[in-house]
Amino acid sequence: MRPAGLQDIDALVRIEELCFDRGRFRQDHLRWILTNERAVTLVEDNGSGLTGVLMLLFEGRVCRVLSVAVVPDARRRGLGTRLMQIAEDVAMERGCASVRLEVSTQNLAAIELYRGLDYKLDGHLPRYYSWGEDAFSMHKPVREATPASIATRAAAVEDSTI
Ligand SMILES: CC(C)(COP(=O)(O)OP(=O)(O)OC[C@H]1O[C@@H](n2cnc3c(N)ncnc32)[C@H](O)[C@@H]1OP(=O)(O)O)[C@@H](O)C(=O)NCCC(=O)NCCS
Repeated sequence: MRPAGLQDIDALVRIEELCFDRGRFRQDHLRWILTNERAVTLVEDNGSGLTGVLMLLFEGRVCRVLSVAVVPDARRRGLGTRLMQIAEDVAMERGCASVRLEVSTQNLAAIELYRGLDYKLDGHLPRYYSWGEDAFSMHKPVREATPASIATRAAAVEDSTI
């Protein structure tokens, strides 16, 4: 796992094409995210290409998941779960109170992923998406940082490139 930069933009466009039928982030929007000081983009890179991406936006004490995606060939092996756990770790490090996200009411895979990680459904947003689909809003409180969790996190960061 590593932070993404502008050099990844073509690969990120490709991930959007592979992972989303509608509502894809266009290149200009990806550029805005990659250069935004309040946003963090992390990618899983297996050496021959990107297999997963996580985009976060920090809004005060809220960490908003803009996108989480795993390429079709790499799904159901725990990468989506790992990306969301990293979102929670980064949110904790940045002193956020919660991680929030919106998900299409039709996206059963993502809803199951979030439910399995204890995200609570807290709203139903009719016609939230430009193509007319409804969304659920979900959130999870960020656990308090403890000396033990900070030490665990520091060790994990030393072992990775995040
Ligand atoms: C949603 C997504 C990120 C999940 O990634 P993943 O790497 O397959 O997730 P995991 O392997 O960690 O799966 C964790 C759990 O989520 C649930 N889940 C994942 N895919 C599922 C599916 N197709 N159907 C039902 N449940 C599913 C399961 O409970 C799964 O646990 P299990 O494999 O032990 O049954 C991936 O399907 C994806 O990229 N989808 C397209 C993009 C998208 O919709 N992103 C979310 C909205 S921004």
